[in-house]
Amino acid sequence: MQKLEVFGANKLKGKINISGSKNASLPILAATLLSNKKVYLNNLPKVKDIETMINLLKSLGSITKFNKNSLIIDNYKQNKNFASYNLVKTMRAGILVLGPLLAKFGNAKVSLPGGCAIGTRPVDIHLKALSKLGVKYKIIQGYVHAMAPKGLIGSKIHFSKISVGATENLIIASTLAKGTTILSNCAIEPEIKDLVNFLIKMGCNLKWVAKRSLKIVGVNQINETSYSVMFDRIEAGTYLIAAAVTEGNLKIKNIIPKIILTEINTLRKIGAKITTKKNEIHIIGNKKINNVNIKTAPYPGFPTDLQAQIMVLLCKANKKSIVKEDIFENRFMHVAELNRMGANISIKGNKAFVEGNTKFAAAELMATDLRASVSLILAALTTKGKSVINRIYHLDRGYENIEKKLKKVGAKIRRVN
Ligand code: EPZ
Repeated sequence: MQKLEVFGANKLKGKINISGSKNASLPILAATLLSNKKVYLNNLPKVKDIETMINLLKSLGSITKFNKNSLIIDNYKQNKNFASYNLVKTMRAGILVLGPLLAKFGNAKVSLPGGCAIGTRPVDIHLKALSKLGVKYKIIQGYVHAMAPKGLIGSKIHFSKISVGATENLIIASTLAKGTTILSNCAIEPEIKDLVNFLIKMGCNLKWVAKRSLKIVGVNQINETSYSVMFDRIEAGTYLIAAAVTEGNLKIKNIIPKIILTEINTLRKIGAKITTKKNEIHIIGNKKINNVNIKTAPYPGFPTDLQAQIMVLLCKANKKSIVKEDIFENRFMHVAELNRMGANISIKGNKAFVEGNTKFAAAELMATDLRASVSLILAALTTKGKSVINRIYHLDRGYENIEKKLKKVGAKIRRVN
């Protein structure tokens, strides 16, 4: 099993180019199933979850080929509607093929995603909303057997709770439904806007009619399309925090600063000096780190995917902070590992009480989930000596070339088998 060795402490200095967004790429890849024409996708990040989703598409009959930095997907022979457990279990976003398969074939058999370290990851909101489009489903031995005997029929659907995945599944399914669908109480993460822009480019008819409401008129013609996915805002936020926690000086490029305003304002409150240009952020970490209280929330709130990372920074603040995790039920797996490095964090329910003035000490560590693993690297970068991070397959699911990008700005980090 591979591990990462990190030799701290270093102030990160230089430029980092941000890759394409994993969480925009996954629903867009699933949405390519709607088409039986060619789709050309650019700026896909080279990470494990994208590879898994492409394998899932291939198992459904898609023909895929990389041509330089562009993925070509040809679905002229795509005729399978069975998504197996062995592919979906490692990447919960596999459930996103349910919507397009139902839209295209009127029936599908898709494995339930199953839980992961951060929570049980139910899909009840997806299924309840799909039944509003005329879908009947049964759960048999861990699979969703879904069918729409009369095809998908447009309808008014109000999500009982804001869900990124459910919003994406329903947006994709509604594009080929008969008639008009109005989705309300939608998640409005930038990745969802990217998905909508992609679908419009494919010839689908979608329009935001209110902040969290989308009107979709079913079409029956999909064009050949090429599209470039947006930047990864969580990767960008991670490297901004890396600069702040190492008192570094980084230029983060290939991004749109206004999309991550909440993160920028939070880091400014904490004391980092941040200036922005059209596609770049320049951040200079400050020796004095102020405490702030964080509450994760759906976009445009503070992203749950940066909660572990910002917690590392708050460990070094001059006073105590409180971090409230309001999205997932078990997303404090990094706390035990950070405490082993000398942090003093206590948990009560969905709140973490983070004492400040921590001097992290190097240690042998265990990654538990994608974002927790990167928080361990951030902490390790601030300590003298060698830290070892095990189970880094979690990391490889969502961060492209992380060692290369960090080495380029002065980190001493290497992957060992
Ligand atoms: C997406 O997960 C992201 N994954 C997650 O990023 C991200 O943390 C999450 O949105 C929140 O922003 C991808 O985009 C591939 P949700 P998703 O449906 O769609 C509950 C990462 O690190 N819920 O908005 O699964 C759910 O349990 C990953 O890149 C139901 O109860 O998130 C959670 O508590 C981790 N029933 C809350 O809603 C449902 O049917 C939000 O989940 C669906 C969700």
